[in-house]
This record gives sequence, structure tokens and C-alpha cells, in this order.
Amino acid sequence: MFKNPIKTKSWSKLSNHFLSIKDFKIFDFFKKDKKRFKNFSINFKNSILVDFSKNRINLETLKLFGSLLDEINFKNYIFSMLMGENINFTENKPVLHFLLRDRKNIFLKNNPNFTDIKKDINANLNKIKFFTDKILNGEWLGFSGKKINNIVNVGIGGSDLGPRMIIKSLFLYRNKLNIYFVSNIDSLDIMKVLNKLSPEDTIFIVCSKTFTTLETLNNANILRKWVLDFYKNKERSLNYHFILVSSNFSESVKFGVNLNNIFIVHDWVGGRYSFCSAFGISISLAIGFDNFCKLLDGAHDMDIHFFSSNYLNNIPIVLAFLSIWYNNFFKFHTEAVLAYNENLFYLPMYLQQLVMESNGKYVDYNGNYISDYYTSPIIWGGVGTNSQHSFYQLLHQGTCVVPCDFIGEIKNVNNINDSHFKLMSNFFSQTQSLAFGDKIFKINNWMNNNINNLNKFIKFKGNRPTNTILIKKINPYNLGSLISLYEHKTFTQGVILNISSFDQWGVELGKKLSNLLSFYLGKKIKLQKKDFKKDIYLDNSTFNLLNFFNKNYFSN
Ligand code: F6P
Repeated sequence: MFKNPIKTKSWSKLSNHFLSIKDFKIFDFFKKDKKRFKNFSINFKNSILVDFSKNRINLETLKLFGSLLDEINFKNYIFSMLMGENINFTENKPVLHFLLRDRKNIFLKNNPNFTDIKKDINANLNKIKFFTDKILNGEWLGFSGKKINNIVNVGIGGSDLGPRMIIKSLFLYRNKLNIYFVSNIDSLDIMKVLNKLSPEDTIFIVCSKTFTTLETLNNANILRKWVLDFYKNKERSLNYHFILVSSNFSESVKFGVNLNNIFIVHDWVGGRYSFCSAFGISISLAIGFDNFCKLLDGAHDMDIHFFSSNYLNNIPIVLAFLSIWYNNFFKFHTEAVLAYNENLFYLPMYLQQLVMESNGKYVDYNGNYISDYYTSPIIWGGVGTNSQHSFYQLLHQGTCVVPCDFIGEIKNVNNINDSHFKLMSNFFSQTQSLAFGDKIFKINNWMNNNINNLNKFIKFKGNRPTNTILIKKINPYNLGSLISLYEHKTFTQGVILNISSFDQWGVELGKKLSNLLSFYLGKKIKLQKKDFKKDIYLDNSTFNLLNFFNKNYFSN
């Protein structure tokens, strides 16, 4: 069933096709096809428009890609996912995060195996509502009787980035609760937050799927002690100030709060795919339960689009293909996410984890090392227009080409002094100039200056691919759709590249080693080689770095 993509006939055809069009200019594609925008854009419910016409592809490219999906039986993978098969086979788990937002029971009703799951999902959702309403209505009081004003989400990776990104993105939907995030094990992070807060009107939501993550447990224990110190060690106070979210019941109960304060999330919810689960409770608190449901509905409608649209009208699938096309054929190995909305500040970071933790892998589904093609591109980016004054020089004139996703909003309510129009004119002008370079201006000397002998320096060759993602309004529904879009794009890439997108073994070695090395830090006496456990390979660099660190830690 699992195929090395480059051994397929369709990939060979795509390779030949690539040779025939690789030198074409985006400008020429537009000249040849007067309906290029119509042919290469998809409108999702008039709320998200994806224009992928400014890419180095033609209709034949898409057709060949469709054949590749047929040849690898892409539909079977979708079917396996929908049926709850263990497609995360290295962890022996299904991948069912899309069920969490299936409030209309579209996927749930077709599968008898999901009956119990459905009950759990509904129970969890009701519990999220119950907690949210109680806190927002002021019925939940702290141990000393004060109303709750502050929420602190304590988690890292997928237990942090989703809520962090979504809550910032939906800033305009926020209520009066103050929401803070603590993720880093660096105590600077926790101190910044604690300096502003008192335990009396604060709830800490400790989110850890495994409940074994060093950073989160360390921070949670600091907070636990902080609360207990304040309440003179009255353990009951913990029930008023801590909510836990985890898949690991036995570890989370050890923290010592009421069972009712613990949300148990199914272990088939991957951290980076978890915003619709109870890991999203801080989102519900920040924007209210009704808005949280709209977020789920938006994600669900994109699920339906993904599972039911044909390949070439399917936004996640087309975007997945473009990513593979550039990474593997053109050898453009990085992709930038450029968000023209201040509130989408964390989106590039969120997508970094989603894409690179899912697909940054060198072993294929069959357990073979991958040596003949590229898996995940490197994802980076920032917000416009700030990034224009930083790294866009490279985007326009660098020797490496960076395909970009430009994400912008139409109905931004803040348009002081026409700022939104000015922002969006930058948005449109960037994708235009990246694609067409100085051809946009029909005059030769576009700079209209007297600079002699600088022709090459001031020239813009263009031909740099971009996708334009225009969102009618960054509201809960549309944001849910956007995230779901990227989730399915990532899954599609994983399937085509023949890798398992839902595990993350690559982070384990570093975690284990840091546990071992922590023993050697903070020693006043110079470490000797014999001090290290025999089973650690001690390289000369690390050995000397540890001693240098220790020596200087204790010196003035
Ligand atoms: O180290 C990687 C990772 O496992 C991520 O996949 C996950 O989102 C993050 O750590 C946090 O894990 P947990 O929710 O189990 O604390």
C-alpha cells in the first residue's frame, strides 16, 4: 500500500513535465491563460479565497498531480483515517481530531466504533461549557472567595501554541479575563507572569498530554508551591486554582486536585492537532463557549471540504502539492508564512510545529531511510509589513527562492487613517512584484532616477511563487477553517511523501539526554571524565562546555 512517491509513474511524468516548464516565467503563464485566476483559485464559502495562480504551474501540472494521488490510492488513506484505523502506526493509534469538531455528527454517525467516542466528546464539550460559564459568570471563586480575573495556560508545544496563537488571533473577540501563557522552562518566563498576579483571582490550566513533559511539570510544580505557600499549605486550595488537561490519568491525579478538575483527552489527539479538544479550554475562556463552538464549526466545514472535494478543487490538497512541487522539483526548501494582520503574529510559529514536527522525518512508512526525496520544507515567516523591512530583500533578490503564503484579511474593523487599505495595498503589491518583478511597470527605468551603472542592482526578475489566502474576516469560524486547512495540507503532504505525520520520535533523544546532563550542571568542582556515566558518549566539546559553564556560573 505504501509507495515511495518517486518510484511511481506519475512522479516520472511530473519530472518530465517539470523539465519542460521549469524555465517558464509566471508572467508567461498569465499571458497564455487569460482565465488564470479563475483556473487557479478556490473560494471556500466566500469566507476564504485561495489564489494559487502566481505559481510556476499550469493545468497539466495539476492534472499530473491528480494522477499521482490516484496512483498512490490517496482515497484509501482518507478512508483509513475516517474509519479510525491506526494510521499513526508507530504509536498504534488512530488519528481522529476531526471528530472533536463534528458537532453535526457527520463523521460520527457513520461509524458504530465511534459511539463511545461520541459520548466522551460530548461530555468533554459540556464540561468545557460548564467550566467556561462558571468562570465567566463569576460563580467560580478562588479559595479566598475572590472572582477569577486571570487564567494562565501552562504547557509547551502543541499544549501551548494552539491556544496562544488562536487567542491572539481572536483578540477582538476577547472578554475581560486576562490570559497568560507559561511554556519555557527558563524561569524568566514564569517570573514575568507571576510578578503580575496573585493566586487569589487566578486559575492555572496545566496542559500536558503525557503529563511527563519536563518544562510543564517543572512550571506546574513551581505554581503549585506558590499557591500552597500563599494559602499556608491548605491542599484544598489547589481545587480552586488548578485545572489539568491530559491523556495520562494516572500521572495527572498525582498532582492532587479534584478529579472533576481534570479533563481527560483521548490519546488519538496529537498535541499539534489538539486545539478543538479540552486543550482549547483557555480559548473557550478567552472568547466564550459560543465562539469556541464557532471555531469548531469552521474547522469542521473545512474537514468536509477536504474529505469530499475533488482533488483539484481541494484547498489543502492543492497547497500540499505546491509545497512538494517546490521542495522536490525546484529544490526550494523553505516556505514563508506572511501574515498581514497583527493578530496573526503567532501563526508562523504555530505552523512551524504543525508542519515540521509532523513531516520532518527521514524514515518512510515502510521503515526505510529516505534518501532520494525531500520531506518537510522549513517553515518560517512573520507579519507584514514589519517583515518587509527586514527579510523581504532576500525574498525579492536572494539567490534562494522562497515560496510564500500571503495571508490577509478583508474586513479589518480597524482602519484608522485608511491603515487597512495601506496594509493591504502592501499585501497585494508584494505578491505582484514577487511574481512579475519590475515588469509591472511598463517603463524601462522604473525607478525613474539618475543612477548610472546600477541596472542589475535595481532589477527585479520576479518569478517568485506565492499563494494568496484572503480571509473575509478573522473571526472564530474562519480561523477554525484556516487551521483545519493547514492540518489537512500537512496530512496530505505526509501521505504523498510516504511518512507517518502523527508521531514525533525526533524530539525524544534530546529530551533524554538533557535529563542525564542536568545532573552535571551546577557542580562547583571541575568535572572529570570518570564522573560521567559509562553509557554516555562524552565528546570533547560537550565535556569542556559543561566545565566552562559550571566554572563561570560560580564566578563573579
Ligand atoms: O516534545 C514534543 C512534544 O511531545 C509535542 O509533540 C507536544 O506538543 C509537546 O511536546 C508537549 O507535550 P505534552 O502535551 O505531552 O506536554
